Order: sequence, then structure tokens, then C-alpha cells
Amino acid sequence: MKIFVDTAKLDEIKEACSWGIVDGVTTNPSLIKRAVDALKEKGEKVDMLTYIEQILKTAGKGHPVSLEVISLTSDEMFKEAIFLYERFNKVAGNVVIKIPINTFVQGCSYTNFEGLKTIKKLSERDIPVNCTLIMTPEQALLAAKAGARYASPFAGRVDDYIRKNLGISFKKGDYFDFELIEELRYQALEESIEDYIDQGERVDELYQNEEIIRGANFGKDNGISSGVDLVAQIVQIYSNYGFGTEVIASSMRNARQVREVAQAGAHIATIPFSVIKEMMQHPKTEEGIKLFTRDVVPEYRKIFEEK
Ligand code: E4P
Repeated sequence: MKIFVDTAKLDEIKEACSWGIVDGVTTNPSLIKRAVDALKEKGEKVDMLTYIEQILKTAGKGHPVSLEVISLTSDEMFKEAIFLYERFNKVAGNVVIKIPINTFVQGCSYTNFEGLKTIKKLSERDIPVNCTLIMTPEQALLAAKAGARYASPFAGRVDDYIRKNLGISFKKGDYFDFELIEELRYQALEESIEDYIDQGERVDELYQNEEIIRGANFGKDNGISSGVDLVAQIVQIYSNYGFGTEVIASSMRNARQVREVAQAGAHIATIPFSVIKEMMQHPKTEEGIKLFTRDVVPEYRKIFEEK
């Protein structure tokens, strides 16, 4: 699995790239705001054109950097995408344009195809697109059909949505134990089904019983039981039909979630700087290095001094 760093902070990109495990970078307007705010707090001014160039050079050739458009209509997004690509791709040849799957333009119907139309036009010109804000496998299927090079399911935000609907309180980095939810769902459902069967209800009645229906969907977002499940379903669909679109598991909240999207077969995970650091941690590793350091005997130390 490739690892992208999910930040627009240049110092974080520089440090993460120095670790030798970063294959790309993703930004979005909120991440750019965070980076700009942090620089302003330090009293630094930001020349955005130069700043973006520095990000692209730091990531380097062959390491894609996603830059997002800011408009909501296809015509405007297309113009912005062309600007970003023509202005910045010459720096290191690594620009990817981020286009939202659905922009919900005010005044239009609830859904629109502005994002998809833009992806199609850009992919016809061989401009690589990262389709962002994907929350369902259906959206991911459409993004791939429109020609997106990458699809970004927001695993963490789907977990947030499910947890909030369940009334579970959580902090941003908390692991979502969707297997525990599944276990609870299964047990609760089994108990109520047994009760209804004891009362003589038939299968057709149970199928339409509101309590049973609620129980069966408990903790699910229209058949999706977690952000990891969303990623797994998209990977499966792409593999079924041989789509070349790569899945970027996005909105990563903690190290265990990264592990699970890797198990699910995500091609890429875009991971915040702090979560990459978390991936390195275990108390027994820390204890182990302290013990190894303590146990170095002079005879062994000497061989390194003489080399
Ligand atoms: C990645 O491309 C997304 O912009 C990012 O992962 C969103 O993460 P968030 O849900 O933590 O804001």
C-alpha cells in the first residue's frame, strides 16, 4: 500500500518525506487553511504560488500531490483545474486535480453531476483526477466510470457519521470498533426475532416488522458498517470490473484504521502526519530499545569504534 501524507503544512511534508516512506501528498482547502493559519501565527506571510511550488518540489517527481478546485460548477471547476495543472505541473510533473464527487450547487436539485462532468473532461485530456468526498460505493463506481485516476473514500467521516447516529461520543482520533457494533446488532436482533417467533409471528411479518428492520440496520449507513467497510466494498467493486482507478483511503483517524484499510486492499492511504507517527509506536518497542542500549557490552561497542 502506498502512503500519502494528508497535510498542506510544508514542514510536515518535508519531515515525512525525509522518513523515506511517503509516496505522495494530499491537500484540500481546509488543510491549506490550517497551514496558512499556522504560518500566520508565527508572523510569517504566505505567497501561495511559491508555497505550492515548494510542496510540489518537496514531494518530488513521481510523488503525486493533490490540489483541490474551489468552485461548484463544472465550467468553473474545469477552468480552475486547467489553471492548477498548467501553472504547477511544470514544477515537478506531479500535480493531481482534486474534484468533489457532488457539489450540491445552491438553487439546483439536491444532487448534481458537475463533479462527474469535470472529471470526464479532465480525464479525456489525460489530466489525473482525485475524486474526493466519496461516502458510498456507488459514488466511487461513478467516479471510476468518469475516468478518475484516484477515488478518495472518507473512511473517518463515515465512522463519525455512524457513531454520531448511534449517539456514541468520541474524540477525533478514537478507534471505531465496528466489529463490536456488529456483535451487538447480531445479538439484539437474534433476541428480538426469538421473542417474535415465540409470539407466533411469521417470516413475512418479521421482514416488515419495524423493530426488526431498525435492529438489522442498527449502526449501518445504508449497508455500510464503517469507513473500513466502505473502502473494502469499493476495492471489491473496482476489482470486479478491472477499473484502473486507485482507492485512496482518506480521512484516516488512527493507526489501527490504517491497518484495517491495508487489510481491505486500499491501494493508498492518505494519512495525517500525527497518525503516521502513531503507526510507529508500541510500549514494548520503546522498552526493548532501552534494554538493548543498556546491554551493550564494551567488547561489542569497541567493534564500531574501530571500524
Ligand atoms: C484527503 O484527501 C482528505 O482531504 C482528508 O483525508 C480529509 O480528512 P478529514 O476527514 O480528517 O478532514
